[in-house]
Amino acid sequence: MTGIYPKINPQSINANLGLKQHFDLTKSFENDHFGTWSKLAREELFWHKDFETCFSQKEYPFFSWFEGGKTNISYNCLDKNLEKNSQKTAIQFINSNQEETNLSYRELHQRVIQFSNYLKKLGIKKRDFICLYMPLSCEAVIAMLAIVRIGAIHNIVFAGFSATALAERIRDTKSDWVITADLAYRKGKELSLLETCLEARDESDFKNIIVYNRSGNCEISSLEKSGLKFYKFENYLSEDFTKDSIEWLDAEDPSFVLYTSGSTGKPKGLVHSTGGYSLWAKLSTRWVFDLKENDKYWCTADIGWITGHTYLVYGPLLNGATCFFYEDAPDFPNKNIFWQLIEKYKITIFYTAPTAIRTFMQWQKDHPITQDLSSLRLLGSVGEPINPKAWKWFYEVIGNSRCPIVDTWWQTETGGIMITSLIGVDDMKPGKAGRALPGIEVFTDTDNKLYIKKPFPSLARTINGNPARYLNAYWNNEHKAYLAGDSALIDEDGYVELQGRIDDVINVSGHRLGTAEIESSIIKAPHVSEAAVVSIPHEIKGETIIVFAVTNGATTKDEINEQIKDDIGSFAKPEEIFLCKALPKTRSGKIMRRLLKDIGLRKFPEGDISTLEDSKVIEALIEVVKQQL
Ligand code: WT7
Repeated sequence: MTGIYPKINPQSINANLGLKQHFDLTKSFENDHFGTWSKLAREELFWHKDFETCFSQKEYPFFSWFEGGKTNISYNCLDKNLEKNSQKTAIQFINSNQEETNLSYRELHQRVIQFSNYLKKLGIKKRDFICLYMPLSCEAVIAMLAIVRIGAIHNIVFAGFSATALAERIRDTKSDWVITADLAYRKGKELSLLETCLEARDESDFKNIIVYNRSGNCEISSLEKSGLKFYKFENYLSEDFTKDSIEWLDAEDPSFVLYTSGSTGKPKGLVHSTGGYSLWAKLSTRWVFDLKENDKYWCTADIGWITGHTYLVYGPLLNGATCFFYEDAPDFPNKNIFWQLIEKYKITIFYTAPTAIRTFMQWQKDHPITQDLSSLRLLGSVGEPINPKAWKWFYEVIGNSRCPIVDTWWQTETGGIMITSLIGVDDMKPGKAGRALPGIEVFTDTDNKLYIKKPFPSLARTINGNPARYLNAYWNNEHKAYLAGDSALIDEDGYVELQGRIDDVINVSGHRLGTAEIESSIIKAPHVSEAAVVSIPHEIKGETIIVFAVTNGATTKDEINEQIKDDIGSFAKPEEIFLCKALPKTRSGKIMRRLLKDIGLRKFPEGDISTLEDSKVIEALIEVVKQQL
């Protein structure tokens, strides 16, 4: 299906960013880019001390925004909303047993102050890194807001990562502190997060761990690990909430670091700012999701990914919204649970990922959706391109052909949404994310590489401990613009069609994985001398991993799977593993991945193979693949 879906009944939309405002804002940015950003920053955020300069470029490509200004994200999320919204529900959380917790802005504010006092009492200072390895929970949100309140820096590691991956991320920030839970509930199973942290301790040397007693029967006094101090998460509740230990931070002080995969084996810790990040988190949420006073907003992401940071926690709270979230998986306790929750809690805005949408499409065949979804008014998608078939299903079945869909393109690096179609402004074109938001300008070069032209405040400032890698990965190009790492086509209306990554990053179910990262894990398996990881398209997951591992015959596929599980986590499990004797290489020794992709797809490799060193390798690989059928 191609075509254009006009914005829905534009007269009745009354969007936060309608045609006129959009026109004026775009003009304003054109006339005075930085003047417009300054004006927005002053209107939207509380500044304890006003900033002096809007933007300054330091040594290329490093820059800063709102210098001289002092602010605090937690203050902007909580205190700023107290006057108008103190009784309003800030977070509504449903746990695996379908039990509900509601915290009003007043209550969340108190808890956050208590937890920040607790952190201070334990000796945590501004600029300390704190690693969070937690289940989706109110406690995790409280911890995030308390950490940024005192100017410490959170490093959230998705609770599906293995002990080794966790340890690597702790080491990279030289963090002394970890906050975890005794366990997480997932699809009726218990995942022992605490145990994983203790394993990670063998490969890192954090000194303190705060444990949230999720199960209700965790006894930390019985735990022991030499040199490690244990603290109860719950103790924060006896702290004073009338005494606030807020730190006023420079706009450029880091708010958090979040690791993501790149082209090399080592994940990149992207460092986000305080002022610029929160400005864009606030504006983009209000513009794109059109948040209104009475909305009930549900973003299904985990806080371990950037979507969970910006659009589950910071963006909606900065706007005084009610954020709804659910602890468990979309098929627990049944495959209709998401629709039941939408019906029961009258969700109005629902933001999820294409891989989930395609899964729902499959499930629906055996589990018809009978729930009343009429509370919904806006749907969103993020993480990978949403194919027109899934788009149409989402639009018709979930949105009942009434709800606009915002297909939002952005990245861990950009901190917030860059490209989408705005519900009061743009028509929707399934398969194309949409246009760049006001203040954001994108272009492509002759190789269809996507860039962002002008500076914008929410871009990650650096890679933790490795500014040279930041320069090389994103900026080392003739255009002196931010290189996104995606390939794209831009049509005559300025709509961007994303075509996937241009680097060795693959996107499995919206999770970004570096091929080099997986390869360096595989070669640790017994008797594996070399490995190549490529991706092939997958109906549900978008892309999926296939592995070619050179072995002397004594390796099993289980050993390779185990190794990946140990080093990264089970979510990186390959779809297929082929054990082989050699990989196709050019005479200069470069692995020809394009050929491996074809072979994995059960296609005879096409195109030029004249640079191939030994063409017999291809036949041998085709044999291996055939045998696996
Ligand atoms: C990569 C960034 C942004 C939060 C989730 C992923 C791909 C993301 C879209 C979209 C096409 C998309 C890109 C991007 N991507 N959203 N709407 N259409 N592709 O964040 O893990 O940093 O991954 O995800 O390839 O570069 P991330």
